[in-house]
Amino acid sequence: MFQIKNLYASLADGTEILKGLNLSIGKGEIHAIMGPNGAGKSTLSKVIAGHPGYKVTSGSVEFFGKNLLELSVSERANSGFFIGFQYPLEIAGLGNEEFLRAAIDAKHKALNLPKLSENEFKEKMASAMQLLKMDSRYKERGLNEGFSGGEKKRNEILQMAILEPALAFLDETDSGLDVDALRIVANGINNLMNAERSVVLITHYQRLLDYAKPQFVHILINGKIARSGGSELALEVEKSGYAC
Ligand SMILES: Nc1ncnc2c1ncn2[C@@H]1O[C@H](COP(=O)(O)OP(=O)(O)O)[C@@H](O)[C@H]1O
Ligand SMILES: [Mg+2]
Repeated sequence: MFQIKNLYASLADGTEILKGLNLSIGKGEIHAIMGPNGAGKSTLSKVIAGHPGYKVTSGSVEFFGKNLLELSVSERANSGFFIGFQYPLEIAGLGNEEFLRAAIDAKHKALNLPKLSENEFKEKMASAMQLLKMDSRYKERGLNEGFSGGEKKRNEILQMAILEPALAFLDETDSGLDVDALRIVANGINNLMNAERSVVLITHYQRLLDYAKPQFVHILINGKIARSGGSELALEVEKSGYAC
């Protein structure tokens, strides 16, 4: 369903960050990507999403048989790719719910699906907010405006619940979460999983993986996948560090 082959990507100044990365993801799978700071984990997510600050110099990214790298950022999103940012942006003055309404409307329009009625959208919002145990006042607040680190992460999963992507890269969604929030977010991710949806959890900690269990764990070091394995690999990293 999703396949990265020999991907190389650089910054605008030519510094190479991704150096021959391979990754294959099937439908309904949970993968985890772990790796030291600066290895290129966030760069990988941003390159796939189409961030203009990075240049793909070689390799391919195939998503449902299409070359993702030829699509615009919004086409990538509309074809079912979602990124939960490590550092979600705050946009003052843009209401959280207003933003989600615009996002889902744009997606439906691009896919020639009927626009959600006011009631359908309200129900969708209500069930997503209940799943993430978010108080309804977060609907009215500015997008991530003044949200704590943990609230921003929870809000990323709320966006995922509304947009229902086929593939989500969640970049350090567990960082900054207290233990209760971690459980709620992991439970949210688990609830959103189905046979058609795949998730990549980028994380440093085994903690999240105790709740949202990956079938595949990859270690990203210096711009490529150095090792892949099952969930036992995360335990090994926890015990012996990335040197393992
Ligand atoms: N926009 C950028 N400008 C300068 N350096 C960058 C930029 N994006 C990434 N890098 C550098 O690329 C490397 C990989 O970063 P990143 O993908 O954020 O690592 P990770 O998420 O694995 O911690 C780091 O050395 C980082 O400083
Ligand atoms: Mg990162």
